[in-house]
Amino acid sequence: MTPVRHYLELRDLDIATLRAILDAASVMKRAQQGRQYPLHPGRPLAGRTLGLMMEKPSTRTRVSFEVAMRQLGGEVIVLSPRDTQLGRGESIPDTARVLSRFLDALVLRTDDPGKLQELVAHSTIPVINGLTSRSHPVQILADILTFEEHRGPIAGQTVAWCGAGNNVAVSWVEAAVRFGFALRIATPAELAPEAEVLDWAASQGGAITLTRSATEAVAGAGCVVTDTWMSMSDDPAEDWSHALEPYRVDARLMRQAAPDALFMHCLPAHRGEEVTDEVIDGPWSVVFDEAENRLHAQKALLLWALGGVHWSELARQAAGERPEAAQQAVAAQPVRNAS
Ligand code: CP
Ligand code: NVA
Repeated sequence: MTPVRHYLELRDLDIATLRAILDAASVMKRAQQGRQYPLHPGRPLAGRTLGLMMEKPSTRTRVSFEVAMRQLGGEVIVLSPRDTQLGRGESIPDTARVLSRFLDALVLRTDDPGKLQELVAHSTIPVINGLTSRSHPVQILADILTFEEHRGPIAGQTVAWCGAGNNVAVSWVEAAVRFGFALRIATPAELAPEAEVLDWAASQGGAITLTRSATEAVAGAGCVVTDTWMSMSDDPAEDWSHALEPYRVDARLMRQAAPDALFMHCLPAHRGEEVTDEVIDGPWSVVFDEAENRLHAQKALLLWALGGVHWSELARQAAGERPEAAQQAVAAQPVRNAS
């Protein structure tokens, strides 16, 4: 029996699978841009239903998953805790068992990574991490797609992260290992990503460096990334904005990166805090491509998880269309088991 295809952390997938998902995303994006309507004539996910369990607010994740599922011919049900018996104390295991009887896949956005683990342990359908306080793996699929659309293979490049070492930074660490690029993280010592992910990256030979200096991190980097200084799961009583001031991405900082450096941000942005208007609206910025690519990357992810023969056909077509440089980058990466 084929194992259920969950996507809980970016590191769970090997490079060949990640590459296949991004290649498929590119093919589907081109179809959409070429206005080849209907976009996916076979309606590959017709009759399938995705549940979106959103315990925290969302614009991009919710809308992109809903549109993705509909474009693929499937249906979506959005479940907020207020609407379900979870809000009145029904257990996660019981909820997982029940929802597995109705739905074909589930996306969960929650503060608590333990809840995601518990849901997976009792689900018989694919579960996708739609953001936890620990990580944001669907975001980084879109981010890698965006980088590569603009600059070609990310393997061997240098990315600089400036700001809080939060959930998005953790998924960037995992991506650096899997895709083979260097990641320099500039953050106050107290806000560094959790030791577990840094230790894992080190054990895999990942090129991750931590620094207190934003200028040191961005020097010559091909991409500068930041995110909000206050994540949804952070305690509002703990205000780190003073400590994070030196990590604001402004034009002066961007000019110290490579001359063709990109600026990325998962959004929502807090203009004037982690990034200035001049940068987010400036020539470096690809933030709205990143947002759009959530749709394309997640369509590919849903097809990987649920698509069966449709996925196999698409993956074969996409691999055939992959630029030679990207094929070499995949070949250069060892295929690792999830660990
Ligand atoms: N980047 C992102 O996940 O945005 P939302 O919180 O709007 O889903
Ligand atoms: N780090 C942010 C990402 C939002 C998409 C948060 O968790 O709130």
